[in-house]
Amino acid sequence: MVPYSPWDIAAAQAIIAPLAARKGATLPILHALQDEFGYIDAAAIPLIADALNLSRAEVHGTVTFYHDFRSEPPGRKVIKLCRAEACQSVGSERLVAHLKQRHGLALDATTADGELTLETVYCLGNCALGPSALVDGELIGRLDETRLSALCGCRAGAGDRA
Ligand code: FES
Repeated sequence: MVPYSPWDIAAAQAIIAPLAARKGATLPILHALQDEFGYIDAAAIPLIADALNLSRAEVHGTVTFYHDFRSEPPGRKVIKLCRAEACQSVGSERLVAHLKQRHGLALDATTADGELTLETVYCLGNCALGPSALVDGELIGRLDETRLSALCGCRAGAGDRA
């Protein structure tokens, strides 16, 4: 589990202020906020816009353009499954289908109990050892259905999430 801080406007302002003077500050600020809180809270948008003299729409557009930025808090565990070409060629789409059919888990979503967020990524630089995933920031290779089920907290081969 990645220990994110709960959203806090004063803490967000303390992150934004020192970065605001940098050239091209929007992305560094968004990354810093997501590193701290796990996502970009909607309340951060006007703070960033004011600090950078941008419109709220411009900041919102940047957040939604980049797939990496979340607009909701992630689950306690975050698994990013690679679906780029090399991993596809060794079974990543089979794993996606397994998650959905066997466990009812969808990519780019968080389970209702807040335990797990599954996300799509496109290449983790581990192509020779695919299918690959990042599990709470740790790179995992040679994934198969049984291992992925276990990583997701599902009982391997026993059906749905408990
Ligand atoms: S394609 Fe999956 S790690 Fe490169």
